[in-house]
Amino acid sequence: MVNGSTPTVADGLAGVVAAQTRLSSVDGEAGELIIAGFPVAELASRASFEETVYLLWHDHLPSPGPLAAFREELAACRDLPQVTLNLLQAAASQKTAVIDALRMAVNTLGLPAAHDSRQAAIRLVAAFPTIVTAYWRLLNQLEPLPARPDLGHAANYLYMLFGWEPEPEQVHGLETYLNTVVDHGMNASTFTARVIISTQSDMISAVGGALGALKGPLHGGAPGPALDMIFEIGDTARVEPYLRRKLAAGERLMGFGHRVYKVRDPRAEVLAAAAARLYRSNNQQALYQLACQVEQMAVALLAEYKPGRQLQTNVEFYTALLLHGLGLTSDLFTPTFAISRVAGWTAHCFEQQRLNRLIRPQSAYVGSKDRRWIPVEQRLN
Ligand SMILES: CC(C)(COP(=O)(O)OP(=O)(O)OC[C@H]1O[C@@H](n2cnc3c(N)ncnc32)[C@H](O)[C@@H]1OP(=O)(O)O)[C@@H](O)C(=O)NCCC(=O)NCCS
Repeated sequence: MVNGSTPTVADGLAGVVAAQTRLSSVDGEAGELIIAGFPVAELASRASFEETVYLLWHDHLPSPGPLAAFREELAACRDLPQVTLNLLQAAASQKTAVIDALRMAVNTLGLPAAHDSRQAAIRLVAAFPTIVTAYWRLLNQLEPLPARPDLGHAANYLYMLFGWEPEPEQVHGLETYLNTVVDHGMNASTFTARVIISTQSDMISAVGGALGALKGPLHGGAPGPALDMIFEIGDTARVEPYLRRKLAAGERLMGFGHRVYKVRDPRAEVLAAAAARLYRSNNQQALYQLACQVEQMAVALLAEYKPGRQLQTNVEFYTALLLHGLGLTSDLFTPTFAISRVAGWTAHCFEQQRLNRLIRPQSAYVGSKDRRWIPVEQRLN
């Protein structure tokens, strides 16, 4: 602030650097995402999800012994306490959205070990798929299934949803997705988690808050609408008139535009390749090709209707396609994003705890300062 004048506000905190991190780096101009030292394309289609979680928490990849122990530790923490199952049953009777049921259920997990951060983090990462699958099955009048400790994290998620052991191509597709979206700089939900843990609150509270931030359509809630758009278009002949109509009406195209990326989101690149591979294996090429045409036309029309805004494909567009190809219904898209991102949130919490510094920015007051009290009976409005 200069001589009592109003300080400059960075709207939406755009451009503000809020922390140092070793977890991920996002270069929006170059279209580059680094996850704990690895370009996303180097890591995402090669690592198991357990390896990626380990990498984020320890800053190096595990050798075989520690990896096996880590897998076992996670697999042993998948089961839910009765209080969580009771809550999920009550939520299902109200037809609560899956992401909201997950948000509520998380808060029932941590009570015994909330202040042991590592134990809480293991519990959160391990239990997220169990909560989502148990709840989704209850919503669909199916009995929740017990976890399969012999299956890895990704394979067990698909097993607990559908009740059959997934094909290796499906596990690979899901694992690529989970690895791709595991962390992404100082996004809104990660910032939320760091703010909460910086008050020396606990990991469960930090992750509960982060989930609240994630569910908004401007953050993690976009893939459902992106898929709806592809289905509504339905046919290659309708791509251009449909998109023009939306843009002329001032609507936003879901799956396009990003606060940071001004070129194609590198995660879209990785997920498009994973979707192409999956759709080749399940013979649904027509849908994949329609999506590619929607993408090309949308980018071209966004440049026409919003010149200079540099609106390109974001992660959500191919997320929708990939998760649909795995048989997931769109109400599972954001919860599946959370199943991955919880590893990033917990890693950021560890980092913030080591820093041990309260996050407390300022605000610029723009209201008046000289009001005088008027008794209620004398007020005119
Ligand atoms: C992600 C998003 C919120 C980033 O927004 P942002 O950086 O804050 O950009 P703004 O909201 O300031 O938008 C800048 C301009 O581009 C337009 N715009 C941004 N994204 C657009 C989209 N997907 N479709 C159409 N127009 C879009 C805005 O209307 C605005 O136009 P104006 O300046 O003429 O009013 C935004 O691009 C969006 O809403 N995308 C669709 C939702 C989505 O895919 N979310 C997932 C993100 S990973």
